[in-house]
Amino acid sequence: MIIILFGAPGVGKGTIAVRLSVEMGMVHVSTGDILREELAKKTDVGEKVREFLDSGLLVPDDIVLDLLKKKMGRDRGRGFVFDGFPRTVDQAKELDGLAAECGQEISHVFNIVVPEDIVVKRLCSRRICPKCGAIYNTEFKPPKKDMVCDVCGSGLVHRSDDRDEVIRVRLHEYGKKTRAVLEYYEKRKLVSQLSGVDGEELFRRISPLVGK
Ligand code: AP5
Ligand code: MG
Repeated sequence: MIIILFGAPGVGKGTIAVRLSVEMGMVHVSTGDILREELAKKTDVGEKVREFLDSGLLVPDDIVLDLLKKKMGRDRGRGFVFDGFPRTVDQAKELDGLAAECGQEISHVFNIVVPEDIVVKRLCSRRICPKCGAIYNTEFKPPKKDMVCDVCGSGLVHRSDDRDEVIRVRLHEYGKKTRAVLEYYEKRKLVSQLSGVDGEELFRRISPLVGK
């Protein structure tokens, strides 16, 4: 089974993906997390993608697909929860082939919708753990101890692309290149529209749809 969590930056894809993948025993695949890991490890790929991540532009398809193929190869035989992928129609077409190779089928595309003013507010107050990837929010989900990860005890950081001007670019990229992916899946009747304003309600609505 492949579940795709779709939506603009800040709608809560990562937050719900962690919960869903644990509950379902599936592999969480966030292409954003994979790219940030390359950056942190200062690999050649990391250096190539730095300017895209810092400016809020989409990373070229070939780089993302290469990393994704490696990840799917390592976790072959398991179901996947995709978060932030696919983001272009070409990525979506490639995923069809990769899914078939893994003997998996795309079963759900959840389009999570949140008003833009709320999204901007959430992103400005987000903090993440650079070590284990846990997601916090100084306003809506603060850690128990200020700026310290509840899960692994590392210091939390502010994502470099969670600045007002970069958030605007990310939202623009979403509108220009990513939203079209929805039509690709709508034709196959895979899309469910869900409000992401209330996280608990979102999880309650997704659970029965994925057989939980
Ligand atoms: P990526 O890391 O995927 O970022 P994004 O899509 O911009 O999405 P976010 O991670 O910002 O938001 P989210 O929906 O996961 O929200 P979250 O759960 O954290 O991509 C980053 C960059 O990598 C891109 O700009 C691009 O350069 C590159 N990239 C990645 N994938 C790519 C691809 N496939 N192709 C090309 N380039 C790619 O929640 C946000 C905040 O809100 C958190 O603080 C959270 O605690 C809080 N929150 C969540 N839910 C709620 C709620 N219900 N109520 C209150 N607060 C909430
Ligand atoms: Mg995310």
